[in-house]
Amino acid sequence: MIVLGLIASYFLGSISTAYVLVKLMKGIDIRTVGSRNAGATNVQRVLGTGPALLVFVLDVLKGVLAVMIGRLVGGPIISLWCGIAAVVGHNWPLFFGLRGGKGTATSFGVLWAIMPNIALIITVVGFTTIAITKYVSLGSILGAPLLLILVIVTGKSWHYIIFAFILMSMTLYRHRENIVRLLEGRESRLGQKVKRVK
Ligand code: G3P
Repeated sequence: MIVLGLIASYFLGSISTAYVLVKLMKGIDIRTVGSRNAGATNVQRVLGTGPALLVFVLDVLKGVLAVMIGRLVGGPIISLWCGIAAVVGHNWPLFFGLRGGKGTATSFGVLWAIMPNIALIITVVGFTTIAITKYVSLGSILGAPLLLILVIVTGKSWHYIIFAFILMSMTLYRHRENIVRLLEGRESRLGQKVKRVK
């Protein structure tokens, strides 16, 4: 049952809502435009705010559902691994050539379902960062180490520390190009016009 739960969470996470919506509404592969990321921020560049919010909510729900699957098949510790499986699916989806998103919204859903108090702090810090700088990536990037720090300082067990370390590592790895662009002052701000890339 646990293995099935993990597999189900992976496949749930791997439903690339950004890819499907942009393909349906514009007939293009989102991974060829803007940041080439199959995520809500890039949907905002391509389709606008409404569709981006829809993708964000659906991607958050994937994380929440995966945690619920984990609880059902194995309890609280397994729910951590099902959450991770959903983010892995979102980032490296089997059905979409292993090219998905960066995992922020799905991780967000996982965190809210597992540790709402810590998720609230990360949400406030992340959204404040985005509101001030207009860099969505910076909010995501800062949230990753903040998660690990909060899990450690609140005295959570090693299961949660490993969980936070894995989520942080995936987030930072998937944002490696954003980190370079931020350091070089080339990162796009929220609302900036999209350019088609080859
Ligand atoms: O969650 C993705 C966001 O942090 C950055 O997206 O499209 O600007 O690379 P993007």
